[in-house]
Amino acid sequence: MTQASEDESRHPFLKGLSKHRGAPPTVVVIFGASGDLTARKLVPAIFNLGVDNLLPGDFHLIGYGRKEIPDEEFRSLMDEAIEEHSRRPLSKEIWERVRHNTTYHAGGYDEASSFASLAEKIDGIEKEIGREVQRLFYISTPPSVFEPIISNLGSSGMAKAHLHTKFASKVIVEKPFGHDLGSARELNAAINEVFEESQVYRIDHYLGKETVQDLLVQRFANSIFEPIWNREYVSCVQITVAESLGVGSRGGYYDTSGALRDMIQNHTMQLVALTAMEPPVSLDPESIRDEKVKVLKAIQPLALDAEDGDVVRARYESGLVDGEPVKGYKEEEGIPEDSFTETYAALRLSINNWRWKGVPFYIRSGKRMARRASEIAIQFKRPPGILFSEGNKFDVASNTMVISIQPDEGVTLVMNSKIPGLETRTQPVKMHFRYATTFGSNTPEAYERLILDAMIGDSTLFIRGDETEASWKLITPILDHWNEAGEEGLATYAAGSWGPKESEQLLASNGHEWR
Ligand code: NDP
Ligand code: BG6
Repeated sequence: MTQASEDESRHPFLKGLSKHRGAPPTVVVIFGASGDLTARKLVPAIFNLGVDNLLPGDFHLIGYGRKEIPDEEFRSLMDEAIEEHSRRPLSKEIWERVRHNTTYHAGGYDEASSFASLAEKIDGIEKEIGREVQRLFYISTPPSVFEPIISNLGSSGMAKAHLHTKFASKVIVEKPFGHDLGSARELNAAINEVFEESQVYRIDHYLGKETVQDLLVQRFANSIFEPIWNREYVSCVQITVAESLGVGSRGGYYDTSGALRDMIQNHTMQLVALTAMEPPVSLDPESIRDEKVKVLKAIQPLALDAEDGDVVRARYESGLVDGEPVKGYKEEEGIPEDSFTETYAALRLSINNWRWKGVPFYIRSGKRMARRASEIAIQFKRPPGILFSEGNKFDVASNTMVISIQPDEGVTLVMNSKIPGLETRTQPVKMHFRYATTFGSNTPEAYERLILDAMIGDSTLFIRGDETEASWKLITPILDHWNEAGEEGLATYAAGSWGPKESEQLLASNGHEWR
């Protein structure tokens, strides 16, 4: 049995991945390696790539940060991170190969000398293994140091190493990518001064989720949906990204962000783009990203008036989540007394193109909502009310296709059926496809797919510079408006509910309601 077919029989979900997707020898440098993201997501993802035999033969990991951490202590911290956060148990045998090549490099993010010594270290690795290596820089620090890191990668010469070969350096930039249109443009300019766009991987971890990738397959690998995926048949689209968690220990960060920046500008807008885009001419990264940008550009500026506008914002108050009492946002740790940050935002989008003109896209995201649920619901128009009606009462439900992103990933089709019996009465029924039942539940984490893709040089699941700017262009006027209005117009909702009653109005004026 070959390695590829062995992988496929162990992990059927790898089919297609393991066959032709080998990364060249790589050194991954994580900036901010003592942080939360490295421990919870990045290192467990690297370990799991190792388990699936998807790391290149020559793979080195260098943690970078301001603290002095001896190599062996850093390795032990990474062992603990895997033990605590990996989806599969730590296998010493597999991890040992990576662990052996894991080191820590202490230095400031704006210290040219530390970058020069980092460059020497990587040159040393190349000499030691006797061949070229790709440098993959993962910027996992707070955004205040994104630009100094990028600038130092440029001046140390590391950004240009092996340019225009398969070993060309690559940079992964974490979110938040700017805090408004102006800062996103500045960050793009700073990056593009040092790196070519083909070297840049702006991360949105939602694109690494299996179900988000499956959206393209559901839409374009089935012939039954595409013909009705348009204004002739669709009544509205509802996208919900709800979390039951509050802000936890991230209050300091969250209060400078809010739901619109933290979840809508990036993750939710990506779901809109993938749901609404035209079929790409091919699956290559630029074709897909071109189509997403067209959707973002076709979204009309939103009406911001408090009455009958397209936007609603709110903050959670105390309430019950899973039956447990939880405090309100203003009582959370690190939230300033005069905060007017929204923990919930809902928007009504109009996409002004041939396919979607007149079909509202309602999107919402919030913390401390009734339960964790991310889904895309395509609500179809009702059939003509000729049959199955009593007098003027037409009693069949709309057909709805619900793509459940998480948890309980799957697709549900809501349709009408006759209730057995001697009368003709109808009832909505559900047809389910669940990932866990069909494929098993241990699917790769988003960061596994994204780190692998960046190593291979596939940018399909990353955000292009113009894409992030198109999204910020839509969102920035809303942020400015809310900033000017302060507390005025900020609604409230009880923790553990589905959000403020004001968001119902967004839909009611078009005769819709949240599902
Ligand atoms: P942390 O706040 O844990 O910071 C990471 C590291 O950066 C720290 O360990 C520290 O390393 C260094 N650092 C922290 N504050 C500063 C500062 N003010 N100036 C310079 N360096 C600093 O961040 P996370 O690991 O949580 O997140 C990293 C990136 O990933 C951020 O951009 C975040 O927005 C993004 N992200 C995080 C998620 C998460 O779940 N944590 C989820 C999605 C995105 P040292 O002191 O050793 O230099
Ligand atoms: C992050 C946000 O980007 O996404 C967090 O900063 C949020 O506030 C998280 O909790 C949600 O991600 P997931 O994968 O748990 O839905």
